[in-house]
Amino acid sequence: MTGVKIAGVGHYTPDEIVDNFELEKWFDTSDEWITSRTGMKRRHWARKDQSTGDLALEAARRALESAKLQAQDVDAFIVCTVYPDYLFPATAAIVASRLGARDKAAFDMEIACTGFIYGLTVASSMVRAGVYKRVCLIGAETLSKLVNKDDRGTAVLFGDGAGAVILEASEKDSFLGSDLGSDGSKPELLFIEAGGSRNGMSHELLDRKADRIVMHGKEVFKFAVNKMIQATDAALAKANLTKADVDVLIPHQANKRIIDSAMKYLGMPPEKCVVNIHEYGNTSAASVPIALSEAVASGRIQPGNVIVFVGFGGGLSWGAVVWKWQ
Ligand code: UT7
Repeated sequence: MTGVKIAGVGHYTPDEIVDNFELEKWFDTSDEWITSRTGMKRRHWARKDQSTGDLALEAARRALESAKLQAQDVDAFIVCTVYPDYLFPATAAIVASRLGARDKAAFDMEIACTGFIYGLTVASSMVRAGVYKRVCLIGAETLSKLVNKDDRGTAVLFGDGAGAVILEASEKDSFLGSDLGSDGSKPELLFIEAGGSRNGMSHELLDRKADRIVMHGKEVFKFAVNKMIQATDAALAKANLTKADVDVLIPHQANKRIIDSAMKYLGMPPEKCVVNIHEYGNTSAASVPIALSEAVASGRIQPGNVIVFVGFGGGLSWGAVVWKWQ
């Protein structure tokens, strides 16, 4: 076994910004409600002609630049997303080709908002096992295209963006531990009913907007707080570390109240937590790598820091990875 490190990181968010006041014009909501219940102030939404792959491409370009590498130097490309460019082929294959990488491994992973946490575990395992020397791992979403814009309960929550890391074989190992989980017994808690092989697509489904995100917010909220705590504890135990060893926690950005509650029950000081939900809303699989990219760019993350990445979402799914920054 070899070690793995993050050699480069980058992110991209679309230019169009939709703030809470704009949403007040659409339906019966208010900046006060959205801010106090979620911590969100703005979200970035992709243009109609901008796909998930377009955002992934730009984030990957920036990560390659920060690693001082060419796409051809990377052995495999992974895109974590719930809304790929097409049902098939994989968005990762399209992104790799557009970056100029030829004949490389490329595949997508769909674990909803926990996508990047699962992806980091899978990609790191491939590098540590010596299967690949370098992997480009991208979390990218355009959930603004999947929300029901008549449903104030979900339309205000989601934003678009992409974050990418270049994982590279290394003498020292950054990957200290991971804990992943799922419970598929109630997919309808957070799902899109139409468009898959169970229900297909029909005029009847389209008429009742069954091709849009449905979420039972209260149930998901409780689950999210519990699993953030459980996964963080379990991943730290696997890494033989304690909460006191953690320098920075980078959680999935779904709701500021979820993050605050989890930090409180974990007994960790809030200042150790990276929060950018006010700017981007919930960008699903992109939220953790965007937050990482911003934290690295601002100098908040330094060599030797112990980081916990933690996420939760549809599936239901959850997970945490403990990482030592080099
Ligand atoms: O990333 C994947 C994982 N996702 C999550 O973790 C999200 C988890 N859930 C949540 O973050 C919260 O449940 C929400 C932010 C979605 C909702 O907050 P809540 O405090 O659970 O509100 P609620 O759904 O219980 O709704 C409370 C009230 C309702 O009105 P009544 O029935 O009390 O009259 C809603 O109709 O707030 C109303 N409401 C709104 N009011 C103004 C719901 N959405 C809005 C809105 N503006 N946008």
